[in-house]
Amino acid sequence: MPVITFANTKGGAGKTTAALILATELARHGARVTILDADPQHWISHWHEISGKVANIDVISNVTIASLQTHIRENRATTDYFVIDLAGARNTLMATAIGLSDHVMIPIQGCAMDAKGGAQVLELLCHLQERAGIRINHSVVLTRVNSLVTTRALQVVKQLLAERSVPVLDTPIIERAAFRDVFDCGGTLQTMDPGRVSNLDKACENARAFGDEVRKLVPLRQVSPARRAA
Ligand SMILES: Nc1ncnc2c1ncn2[C@@H]1O[C@H](COP(=O)(O)OP(=O)(O)OP(=O)(O)O)[C@@H](O)[C@H]1O
Ligand SMILES: [Mg+2]
Repeated sequence: MPVITFANTKGGAGKTTAALILATELARHGARVTILDADPQHWISHWHEISGKVANIDVISNVTIASLQTHIRENRATTDYFVIDLAGARNTLMATAIGLSDHVMIPIQGCAMDAKGGAQVLELLCHLQERAGIRINHSVVLTRVNSLVTTRALQVVKQLLAERSVPVLDTPIIERAAFRDVFDCGGTLQTMDPGRVSNLDKACENARAFGDEVRKLVPLRQVSPARRAA
């Protein structure tokens, strides 16, 4: 049961949104997903409360540095993927979650290219590898990308990150009303009303592509040595 953590020390980068999109996509494909909500704003816990039961998804609220490993240990038998949503802060909980991860997703706002918070996560990953010999797979996911941004502009951003050897997902998460509204409506993109949410079909298609790419990148069997020993 791989652990996928969303980390960026900058607030508002799109961690919680991307974490929920991924969790619901994995669940839609039949994987049992446990979301560990360590975001002090508790958006995903709130979403879960108003959603009622969502097939294949469990949410654990108020995750702390003291409880994180216990949650993973106690739920590993019934979980295919753990998805951890972190606060937009640089703290020991972030470092611990990263250390337990099979893959770290670093959401960076595509249009703003304000990559400072993402760079801090990349620095930590680099530090772990150089000092402790622990290599944790990771990818930048461009978020809140304007749907009108040309493919060419995105390619330039991807190229810039590639020149620094930072892996970037092919699928950016586009700025869509549905990705915002799902937190108010509850449920999933599939249960939202297409008559009330603009471009819901495009949001569903974007979420599907994002989920497919992550499932290929982090297949079910992959378990990090650090977590196996935990
Ligand atoms: N793809 C998107 N389309 C539309 N709105 C988005 C998208 N991604 C994020 N947002 C909006 O941007 C704001 C910040 O997003 P989000 O809460 O996911 O960021 P975060 O990194 O989790 O923030 P924090 O560090 O404060 O926890 C929210 O209002 C959210 O609804
Ligand atoms: Mg958040």
